[in-house]
Amino acid sequence: MKEKIRGMKCVHCGTEYACSGMQYICDSCGCNFEVLYDYGAIRKTLTRESLAGDKNYSVWRYWDLLPLADRSHIMPLQIGWTPLYRADRLEKKLGLKALYLKDDGRNPSGSFKDRASSVAICKALELGFPTIAGASTGNAASSSACLGASLGISPVIFVPAAAPEAKVAQLLVFGATVYAVNGTYDDAFDLCTEVCLEYGWFNRNTGYNPYTREGKKTVSFEICEQLGWEVPDTVLVPVGDGNIITGVWKGFKDLLGVGLIDRLPRLIAVQSEKSSSVVDAILSGKPVCPVAATTVADSISVDLPRDGEAAVKAAGESEGTGILVSDEAILNSILTIARGAGVFAEPAGATAYAGLEKMRSEGTITDDETVVCLVTGNGLKDVKSAIRVAGSPTPLEPSLDAFRAARRP
Ligand SMILES: Cc1ncc(COP(=O)(O)O)c(C=O)c1O
Ligand SMILES: [Zn+2]
Repeated sequence: MKEKIRGMKCVHCGTEYACSGMQYICDSCGCNFEVLYDYGAIRKTLTRESLAGDKNYSVWRYWDLLPLADRSHIMPLQIGWTPLYRADRLEKKLGLKALYLKDDGRNPSGSFKDRASSVAICKALELGFPTIAGASTGNAASSSACLGASLGISPVIFVPAAAPEAKVAQLLVFGATVYAVNGTYDDAFDLCTEVCLEYGWFNRNTGYNPYTREGKKTVSFEICEQLGWEVPDTVLVPVGDGNIITGVWKGFKDLLGVGLIDRLPRLIAVQSEKSSSVVDAILSGKPVCPVAATTVADSISVDLPRDGEAAVKAAGESEGTGILVSDEAILNSILTIARGAGVFAEPAGATAYAGLEKMRSEGTITDDETVVCLVTGNGLKDVKSAIRVAGSPTPLEPSLDAFRAARRP
């Protein structure tokens, strides 16, 4: 560990700290951290050749760039190394050089959050915490419950009472201790933080915990490796708390730091018009302000983004931007990517694609670009939203005559 980690740095004031024990936020300003690595040391062992010879196709193949020392808590599940599909029909429709969909709905609990939970849970166990807790719009929780169950651990979870049924079902099936908080995600988040302080539990809350980003960054490693170490021009990312986009950026910067790539992509933060805090800040140049989020894309319905400042920085440093899309466009994108590429996304998971369509229509993504859209959650997580746009089946009596009468082209 000592050889690969240099310490932690506050994303706001830049104060550096040693990595000892569990520290969530900066003592000086209360903001969150990023982990600093010794790229010079890591590049000696982590090379394109070493990776080519590594048969472990999961997040763990990037161990040298993970903030962990102890391999004994690695889950026996397939986490990461999700498919990167070339979506050639959609690519033609949009007139792009190349379009890829990174299908993270294929992770064990059906969402991108398994990347974060894998590293956060390992960290909690490495540090000897007796209990792991987390608040979530649903996916981070179901992910913690799933990965925890694979190790015989049952986390304590706080979800908003309105979390989609499928996500709550996952929590209960995996045996987590579940509290349905009568309030928003933000209320659940704050309560979880208070409870963890009171009881000395490990707080897995997105953004607040510096290790969630460290797991999420593995998606960028995979994208580059799956593209034969080509760097895409543009990566579109759905944004709620802003922790995924921050992780995606960290991943590309890590790869550049260790010399595995030689340029960086631009990142586009995509949000619903009804949960627009991060994109508002990107477009206005003003600090991140809370909104009253009401989007149908429950996973990105966030009033106060917990990694908002770093998310704005990620878009800016990458020379990217942010874009807002309507809930209607998000729901329509579920159909477009399902019918155009065979990938079923929950609303948040289809949001990046909705952003791509809008930017193509505005001409802000050009024909010659290689584009990656992150599909962050599986469509079965929220079938109600899917059915809203997919329509209903044709009712039919069980007879051939009835079929003839009802037959559709
Ligand atoms: C499916 C899905 N997409 C996107 C996001 C947004 O990630 P972040 O909150 O880190 O911005 C989440 C977060 O819960 C999610 O579950
Ligand atoms: Zn600080």
